Amino acid sequence: TERTLVIVKPDGVARNLVGEVLRRVEAKGYSIVALELRTADTDLLARHYAEHEDKPFFASLVEFMVSGPVVAAIVEGHGVIEGFRSLAGSTKPTSAAPGTIRGDLGREWGSAVVQNIVHGSDSPESAAREIGLWFPAL
Ligand code: GTP
Ligand code: MG
Repeated sequence: TERTLVIVKPDGVARNLVGEVLRRVEAKGYSIVALELRTADTDLLARHYAEHEDKPFFASLVEFMVSGPVVAAIVEGHGVIEGFRSLAGSTKPTSAAPGTIRGDLGREWGSAVVQNIVHGSDSPESAAREIGLWFPAL
């Protein structure tokens, strides 16, 4: 079976939405196989979001992601990479469909940063790379 890296971002932890996100993951039938609450450092986030390093929002994105604790999880299940992206919804909370995590819970006001609650790996290559970054022992 497939694995993906899910992160409940600082906005999700600060708003007490960790259980709500994990509930949706488990209700879909996926399994949590590793789970950790931690405040990441800039080096880890810069590597995590390396594909975005030339984007105008890169610095504020990294700053936001280290601004408080996050919950990182390895989630396992058939087709979970695509499946979790579907549960999460599209990047912008304003246009994300109702019923998705970002559509139901995300915000993009009151901050320069898109506060979209969760991250999910976007391909098998990204999942392997990101799991290696966040859970180097696994
Ligand atoms: P992740 O699961 O976090 O990787 O989200 P994604 O795959 O839906 O989006 P993408 O990888 O393109 O962007 C990564 C993150 O950067 C997003 O989740 C947002 O938090 C932020 N982001 C993306 N596009 C923009 C943008 O145009 N403006 C701002 N301010 N932030 C953005
Ligand atoms: Mg992405």
